[in-house]
This record gives sequence, structure tokens and C-alpha cells, in this order.
Amino acid sequence: MTAAVVTATPTSPPPQRPQDIPGWFFHADREVFGHLLRAQTDAGTAGDLLELGSYLGRSAVLLGDLLAPGETLTVCDLFDSEAHDPENAAEMAMSYRETLTRRSFEANYLAFHPRLPQIVQAPTSVLADGRIPAGSCRFVHIDASHLYEHVAGDIEVARAALAEDGLVALDDYRQPHTPGVAAAVWRAVVTSGLRPVLLTPEKFYGTWGDPAAAQRQLLTRDWRAEGYHLDEETIAGARVYRLAAPAEPPTAPAPQPPTPPRRSTPRRLALDLLPPIATRTARRVLAAARRRNS
Ligand SMILES: C[S@@+](CC[C@H](N)C(=O)[O-])C[C@H]1O[C@@H](n2cnc3c(N)ncnc32)[C@H](O)[C@@H]1O
Repeated sequence: MTAAVVTATPTSPPPQRPQDIPGWFFHADREVFGHLLRAQTDAGTAGDLLELGSYLGRSAVLLGDLLAPGETLTVCDLFDSEAHDPENAAEMAMSYRETLTRRSFEANYLAFHPRLPQIVQAPTSVLADGRIPAGSCRFVHIDASHLYEHVAGDIEVARAALAEDGLVALDDYRQPHTPGVAAAVWRAVVTSGLRPVLLTPEKFYGTWGDPAAAQRQLLTRDWRAEGYHLDEETIAGARVYRLAAPAEPPTAPAPQPPTPPRRSTPRRLALDLLPPIATRTARRVLAAARRRNS
């Protein structure tokens, strides 16, 4: 999470577009979720979707769009419940408490979908009890607590929930203020067979299956032709892609003040450096000269 693009107020009107929902889900990842999950469906891969950490629904609404018939989206979030440990409680108080309620999540979700997803209002650690059937998911989005112990647990939940070539997306794997996420993600890569597929500035995409299959699906879109930066890297001999979007399209164009006519640089410098009385005299002389010349 870097910055919220839209902030909620108690009287926020219903969102018109998913990107009007406050949250931390940005352009490149919206496009990657859409592309990879539609590609799975087109290839005949069915499975449920799971999100750990939904906040006000910005990413959950898109996951709801990407469900194929017969599939289920489950979201797990504390919403307005208490965290079970002091560090997680501090994280909640600092980042989410003022704006987050389960009711706001539900209202936002229902602005775009006729039915709510399955909601688990609890710490994500409860999902380790097997309530998500093993191997039932094709995609898991991890974006809940950013503390190492929690993320490490969430990665284990994802590993159990995912089908063979299922994908996991992990938020904030490289932000300066979330070192615990980085530690948990790269530990899983080194010790538990999580294989990187794609890195965006915000999210790590990986699989415990075959990364080449997902990478082939990624490359069916010509990202570079659309202005994205796409690079190929290797990590310990394994291929991984890096993708970054062109600048986030503005949510609403800011009104611009009329641009004053530009003066030539030496003349502007001279006017800026002269004392105010001399500047006024100089401006009068210049204006008279301009009138004479026009
Ligand atoms: C960064 S926000 C999620 C952002 C969301 N995915 C979006 O697109 O805007 C993190 C969420 O995780 C939730 N959370 C934090 N710790 C949690 C925990 N231990 N268990 C469940 N949810 C948690 C918070 O309530 C918050 O809604």
C-alpha cells in the first residue's frame, strides 16, 4: 500500500466506478488481474477466488467481475472487528480504523454486483482451519496484514487453497515500510517452491505450479504497444517479468488556471529581480512600447 487515491468520508456518495472506491489497487494490477483471470477462464481453468484483505472493496469488486458461472469469491477481512494481537491492532488503527466498516464494504460491493461474496469477518489466520477446500482456487489475492508472521501464514493458506497452476498475488512485497511482506514472500520463494511469474511495482504474482503457463498467457497481450514497461529478468535462473503501467489515468481532471502569456527568460528575470517600483515603471514602459508596435 503506498497511498489511497480516494479518501472516504461518512457521507461519501455511492461509487460510480470501482476506482472511485477508496483503496490501494492501481491501474497496472487492475489490468493484470483482468487479463490473467480472463485468460484462465478462456483456457477452461475453473476455480474459486479468494481475497485476504478487502478494505472497502476496490479490488474485491473487480474479482467479482471476473467470476465465471459456478465459481465463488470469498473475502476475509477484520473490517470493524478487533485485531487479536497488538501489532496488528496498531496497523489497523494507523491505516484503516477511521474509514472501514463491513457495512461500507458491502454497500460498495453491492453498487456493482447483485449479490455479496462469501464474507469471513475474522483474522485471516482462521482460514488455516481448512474451511477453504484444498486445491479449490484458481486465484488468491493476499493484501491483509503486512506483518511478517501474518503474511507467512496467509501464504500457507494460499498454497493449500490453490489448484495446481493457480496464481497468488501478494501486495506490497517491496515497499520500504513493509519489510515483513518482502521477507515472507522471498522466503516462500527460496524455501517453499513459490515461483515468481510477474512483478509489478505493487504486487508479486507467483504460482506453486508452472510459471511458464501463466507467463505465456501474460504475453498474449502486447503491453508495450499500450505504453506499459515490460522487462524480462531472471532470478536464480528462473524467468520473471516486470510490468509497470504508464502514469495512472487521473480520476478527475483538475481545473487548470488560465496560463499567463510567457515572457522571454531574460525579460522575466529582469522583472523578477527589480525592486517593485522599478518593476512597475519597467512594465509601463514595456506596455507603451508594445502598444506602439501593434
Ligand atoms: C491494504 S487493505 C486492503 C486493500 C484492498 N485490497 C484494496 O484493494 O483496496 C488491508 C486490509 O486488511 C485488513 N486486515 C489487516 N489485518 C488483518 C488480519 N489479520 N486479518 C484480516 N484482515 C486484516 C484490514 O482491515 C484492511 O481492510
